Amino acid sequence: MEILKKITECKSIVDDIKKRGLTIGFVPTMGFLHEGHLSLIRKAKKECDRIFISIFVNPLQFGPGEDFKNYPRDMKRDISMAGNAGADYIFYPAAKEMYGQDFKTAVEVKELGDIMCGEYRPGHFSGVATVVLKFFNIVKPDRAYFGQKDYQQLVIIKRMVCDMNLDVKITGCPTVREKDGLALSSRNKYLSAGERKSAAVLFGCLTEAKDMIKKGEKDLEKIRKTIMTKLKKNRSVRKVDYFDFRDPGTLEHIKRVNKENRNILAAIAVRIGKTRLIDNMIIKV
Ligand code: PAF
Repeated sequence: MEILKKITECKSIVDDIKKRGLTIGFVPTMGFLHEGHLSLIRKAKKECDRIFISIFVNPLQFGPGEDFKNYPRDMKRDISMAGNAGADYIFYPAAKEMYGQDFKTAVEVKELGDIMCGEYRPGHFSGVATVVLKFFNIVKPDRAYFGQKDYQQLVIIKRMVCDMNLDVKITGCPTVREKDGLALSSRNKYLSAGERKSAAVLFGCLTEAKDMIKKGEKDLEKIRKTIMTKLKKNRSVRKVDYFDFRDPGTLEHIKRVNKENRNILAAIAVRIGKTRLIDNMIIKV
């Protein structure tokens, strides 16, 4: 496996691969890899000839007061995990390499970037879309793989690819979970032992909502209020950013189950201690 720090180096390897008629699979990451990332790399390996991953803690997608400086990093461990999962190249640029001195461009996916997590993290999705578009122009992947845990991110990237006529197929892959349901995330590292136990509440709420829908409850606003009350009573939940039902394609609010909703996205974002955690579930009706 090769580690590429320079954009020119990466582009010239990509050109070579393309000349040989081979396909490129790409998994963008911010490092501190876990089984969720590895599942994306393995999926890419099954479908593509050469696998690139990027490891880049992207300053553009962190707001003031967020965890950019403390974001967990462990390059040695990442290299061995990525290699074992089947990555061929790690693109590992410095921030200066990506943004230089005079970077002025931002990609904004309107509306989709302002709701849900966007409401609590202004500018976050513009930072994500901007860096992902740059990666796509550098790595020129045939296919790119994203975790469904960041469901809103996945919808935004798909919208950008469609709107900007990019020749890359985006694949969303299932969330990988711990035994108690907690979705894997590099940020789980921030949780104390007590907080880690409490963090199962996210999956618990999503499951409870699913069960209520499956039992025939059509009033999603009623379910939402029940879950919100439960979350507010939970002393380990410091703040609830949202618990929402949305259309999985458009991310529009859904208030009632009706014939048109075949799938409903339940999404949650809460703060446990200092850690902001998100999760979601697609509920089939
Ligand atoms: O999901 C992530 O880890 C990041 O948002 C991504 C897609 C690598 C962009 O920095």
